[in-house]
Amino acid sequence: MNAPVVLITGGSRGIGAATALAAARAGYAVAVNFHRNAAAAQAVVDEIKAQGGQALTLQADVTQEEDVLALFAAIDTAWGRLDALVNNAGIVDVSCRVDAMGVARLKRMFETNVVGSFICAREAVLRMSTRHGGRGGTIVNVSSAAARLGSPGQYVDYAASKGAIDTFTIGLAKELAAEGIRVNGVRPGIIDTEIHASGGEPNRAQLLGAQVPMQRPGTAEEVAQAIMWLIGPQSSYSTGALLDVSGGR
Ligand code: NAI
Repeated sequence: MNAPVVLITGGSRGIGAATALAAARAGYAVAVNFHRNAAAAQAVVDEIKAQGGQALTLQADVTQEEDVLALFAAIDTAWGRLDALVNNAGIVDVSCRVDAMGVARLKRMFETNVVGSFICAREAVLRMSTRHGGRGGTIVNVSSAAARLGSPGQYVDYAASKGAIDTFTIGLAKELAAEGIRVNGVRPGIIDTEIHASGGEPNRAQLLGAQVPMQRPGTAEEVAQAIMWLIGPQSSYSTGALLDVSGGR
């Protein structure tokens, strides 16, 4: 494989799908991970291939270690290299105060948003770090403006999981800085994707977008462009950076 390879978790829709398409346009071979919706992931891969790019779909639940091991092994087999990881897979839940949050919800939130990102990063580091014989690479963690704002009355659990992602980004960046791997994060604000419907509020992006200083929600493509800058060589002296893509929010 001559092209650089990027793995995008949760790449079948929203910010992940937009990033997959942008990465393919930039010359990356793209591993499009999906959780359940094989058809949506295949549609992303078909679009990439129609434009002359290289891509494959790979099923894995990022909370399941065996799934993640199989995901990375499949990339090893198919392409034999890994140059970048975008830890994009993430969930919200329905709006709820902390005094009503059950343990099952909290475990699901932190296992998906935090543990999933950690174990995917671990497998990427084992392949990319010069310490392990790799040739370096980049990791971009998709955090959220919620990490700064706290999301009171809505989903403090989600915000705290993204706060963990910010700290993870800073720590891992320093841990790997001398091993050829840069680690950065993006903090999207209100972005118009299907995640809001998953949290029971399909109109959330339009409703809250008006309160953003730029007076509109962002698009998945706008976040994808920031991710692309961070995974590529243009950001060569940035590591541990958290880039807000939030319209001034
Ligand atoms: P989305 O719901 O369209 O995409 C999330 C993707 O993650 C989906 O494809 C979903 O299947 C996948 N996923 C969820 N759990 C998974 C699991 N266990 N294993 C594998 N994949 C899994 O939402 P969107 O908006 O594209 O979100 C992408 C990232 O951006 C998330 O990390 C989210 O927290 C973050 N974000 C989104 C914002 C927004 O306003 N849309 C704002 C700030 C951050």
